[in-house]
Amino acid sequence: MSLKSHPKLELHLHLEGAAPPAFIRGLSQERKVDISGIFDERGHYTYRDFWHFLKVYEAATSVLQSPMDYHRLTLAVLEECAASGVIYAETFLSPDFCGGRDLVAWRDYLAAIEDAAAQAEAELGITLRAIVTPIRHFGPDKAKEAARCAAETAGRFVTGFGIAGDEKVCEPEDFLWAFDCAREAGLGITAHAGEWRGPEHIRATLKALNPTRIGHGVRAIEDLALVDELAERGTVLEVCPGSNIALGLYPDWRSHPIGQLYDRGVKVTVSTDDPPFFHTTMAREWDRLHDAFEWDDGVFATLNRTALEAAFCDADTRQALA
Ligand code: ADE
Ligand code: ZN
Repeated sequence: MSLKSHPKLELHLHLEGAAPPAFIRGLSQERKVDISGIFDERGHYTYRDFWHFLKVYEAATSVLQSPMDYHRLTLAVLEECAASGVIYAETFLSPDFCGGRDLVAWRDYLAAIEDAAAQAEAELGITLRAIVTPIRHFGPDKAKEAARCAAETAGRFVTGFGIAGDEKVCEPEDFLWAFDCAREAGLGITAHAGEWRGPEHIRATLKALNPTRIGHGVRAIEDLALVDELAERGTVLEVCPGSNIALGLYPDWRSHPIGQLYDRGVKVTVSTDDPPFFHTTMAREWDRLHDAFEWDDGVFATLNRTALEAAFCDADTRQALA
């Protein structure tokens, strides 16, 4: 069964993490940067575990050195998304990688990405919005600078603020200033939690940062009282099952908690996270979920409805997608 042609919405996609390896390898040759160690003999990205994955991710990102590189990257990524039936995506963008948190440079990178997104929308019928996302293990001070970039550019394209990177580094309160700054600028709030730390970190993140969405959040399943609380609050989980399985969090699709979370009334959505790193696509995620949980068109329609309601886009964009 292939659900490839069904329209899909994706809320959790790291732009650099979605870079096709051939694209990054080509750019590394143009830039004369030797990152050959991040590819295996078949040309795929290779890493040992999540923490090594973060290093490989940063090495791949090191060859993206100009707004034009990000223009090309955005087009390449959106082509892949559209081929999987994605009609709306939100992507994480980090001022850390796009201009080193310098506001003038950030604006240039953003303009290039937005221009590519407009081209993809016209040619492929896919709409893109951006979530500014500092990297947690770069620390709270850099997150503040990223938040300033986010606040200065909040609008129709930059619609959200989040945090990614090594979940074991720092506590949610360390990022309070950055999140308050983003919230005051009108940005939607999400945060990665409950991927590499357990339920207590999800609770602490909800308490300190009050996000409407959680990136991953799947380890809530280890505390059913928290699962009930998430369902009651209507917190939306950006679940990335293929990512969790590739990174060894769960052994296989049938063991993944998304089925239980859905059955217990939690608002779940499905995304790919960093698709080529995890050998996945949105079409594959849907196909595997169909196989593992016998999810039918009704469940997939619910996932899409949840994603549309939780999307950080403006009302006009939401209306156009409905
Ligand atoms: N950055 C890219 N992918 C990530 C993930 N799965 N968790 C945290 N940070 C990330
Ligand atoms: Zn992520």
